[in-house]
Formats: sequence, C-alpha cells, structure tokens
Amino acid sequence: RNLEIERLLQAHEWAAKFYHFLLKNTEHGKAAMEYLRSRGFTDKMIDQFQIGYAPNRWDTLVQFLTKRNFDLAEMERGGLLTQRNDGTGYIDRFRDRVMFPIANRSGRVIAFSGRILGEGQPKYLNSPESKLFSKSRTLYNLHQAKTAIRKQRQIVLFEGFGDVISAWEAGVHNGVATMGTALTESHVAMMRNLADEVIVCYDGDSAGQAAALKSIPLFENVALHVKVAVLRDGLDPDEYIKNFGAERFVDQIIEGAVSTTKFKLIYLKKNHILLEEDGKVAYAREALEVIAQLPSPTEREVYLKELSTEIQIEYETLKQECNVIRQSV
Ligand code: GTP
Ligand code: MN
Ligand code: MN
Ligand code: MN
Ligand code: MN
Repeated sequence: RNLEIERLLQAHEWAAKFYHFLLKNTEHGKAAMEYLRSRGFTDKMIDQFQIGYAPNRWDTLVQFLTKRNFDLAEMERGGLLTQRNDGTGYIDRFRDRVMFPIANRSGRVIAFSGRILGEGQPKYLNSPESKLFSKSRTLYNLHQAKTAIRKQRQIVLFEGFGDVISAWEAGVHNGVATMGTALTESHVAMMRNLADEVIVCYDGDSAGQAAALKSIPLFENVALHVKVAVLRDGLDPDEYIKNFGAERFVDQIIEGAVSTTKFKLIYLKKNHILLEEDGKVAYAREALEVIAQLPSPTEREVYLKELSTEIQIEYETLKQECNVIRQSV
C-alpha cells in the first residue's frame, strides 16, 4: 500500500502515545489532568481511550517528529502540523488541548480531536480531511465497540466523544459517535453492516433533538430499525450519567428508548400548550398526521389510543379524523 499512508499512520500512533504520556507523566499535563478529573474522567477511561494533552507550545510535536525523521511537509498534509503564516516552516496544529485520538475500524489512529480546557472557540479542533481521515466515513470508537455491536446486533449512536466515553464506563460498550458533523449515508451503511438496530441517543437540547429527528429517515432507508433514547432538560448523555448515575442511564434512558413514532409525538408536543384549546387541537392535528402515515392498522390503533388518553379526546373521533387524512393523501 501507499507508503505515505503507512508513514502517516505511524506518525499518528507515535503522536497519540506521546500526547498520552505528556498528559499522565509530565508537568505540562497537569492542568489538563485537573480539567479531566473535574469532568469525572478516571485513569481507566483516560487509558482506555488513550486521551492525551498537546502542550501550549509551537513545536512540541514538530521536535518529536523531526527526531524520528518524519518529513514535516508530509505531516502537514496528514493534519498533524500546520504551515507557519510566513511560510518558513511548520508548527504544531494542536496546542493546549486535551487530545482524543480518532481510530479507524482496525484501531489505527487516523486523526485527533482536541478540546480546549474550559471555555473558548473552537471548543473542538479536528484534524482536517486527509488521505487518512474522512469525517463522513468515521465513527468514533467503532474499533472498540464492534465486538459488542456484532454480538448484540445493536449500536448506540451518540453526538459527542464524551458521551461515548461516559457511556462505555456505564457499561454501554456498543456506543459510537459521529465527528460533530451530520450523519451521512456512509455512516449509516457502516452501521448497517454490523447491526440490525440503532438507538439514537443525542443531546437533550433542541439541536440534539432536531438532529435525532433528521436521522430517522436515513436509517429507515436501509431498513435499520431505529429507536430514540430521549434525554430531558437539555442534558447530554455524559451530563446525565454524571448527574444521575450509570444505572439510571442504562435502565431508563437506553432501555427506555422509544419508537420513532413515539419520539415524533414527544417532539411535536413540545411546541404546544395542551392546556389551551388551540394548542390541543394543533397538537392533535400534527400527531394525527404522523399516525396516519403508519401502514399498519394495529400500530395506528396503539398510538391513537395513547393519544386519546393523553388529550382526552374520544378514540373514535381521532380514528375518524385519521382516516380522513389517510384518504386525502
Ligand atoms: P463537551 O462540551 O466537551 O461535553 O462536548 P460535547 O460533546 O457535549 O459537545 P457538543 O454537544 O457541543 O457537540 C457535539 C459534538 O459536536 C462534539 O463532540 C464535537 O464532535 C462536535 N463539536 C462541538 N463543538 C465543536 C467545534 O467547535 N468544532 C468542531 N469541529 N466540532 C465541534
Ligand atoms: Mn495508557
Ligand atoms: Mn450537543
Ligand atoms: Mn453534548
Ligand atoms: Mn458534553
């Protein structure tokens, strides 16, 4: 295979080890270690995910790679370094960041995502697209999760690295995440190859919930069964686990994942005040649009009955209106 790719893989492996070492064993890594501790990262998690730290200097990695005879221009193309503004050489791409190595399916490091310590922009800095790394084809943690995924034929999809790591610690070993980009058909195809079911467990804020809604048709297109794990109060899975514990996360959120129809109804309901007549009518109308699309009469009956109880409207009335919608499309 391409020698440049092999050298880049080699450099990424070295860099991951180096950043991990700097975090754990040097004075440089102290503040980053404190930051990770304050977020509840244990040594075990830091080791398992080979988390590291890139010091606040221009040439830590430049020096390291130079000593090992790597070609700096090549390393820049691979995303580890950037060119100086005046074009006189290279500097480290990642500085003063907590480093999360991103591995491919075989577990080889192909990129990094670096988080700022605390507040600031950008919160995460990713490696650029390169010969090694394509965001739209990479799922974080797939190399470690694939054993559990194959066994259970199920994947849990998260939004962020922190979510995957906290969930792993909570016993969810089939979790992966996209790289902060939208879910693509390639991601879905990769997931389809390993599993029959996916649980979408995105953040509980409005962006996360909207993204969960948008992901549903992509899975349905490839006949991958979807459920949605719904987090309330805007928490993300990592925050939920830190606040309420691993057991409650697994029992209530993961085990409690709902059908896509149920999720759509929960999602719609948020926009309406059911105590007001207008709100109730509008919610009923939108809910009926969703239910009317279900091909199975049994499924329609299940959700119509739930809706009937929920908004205190006769089942027969809802059924009639549902049938009118079905005939009009
Ligand atoms: P924490 O604040 O560290 O807990 O991160 P988070 O994972 O909860 O972040 P958030 O929910 O805001 O975003 C979800 C994912 O989007 C992250 O894990 C990243 O992959 C990505 N993301 C967030 N902010 C940025 C950013 O500033 N730049 C890039 N490239 N990606 C980002
Ligand atoms: Mn280690
Ligand atoms: Mn988010
Ligand atoms: Mn989040
Ligand atoms: Mn988070």
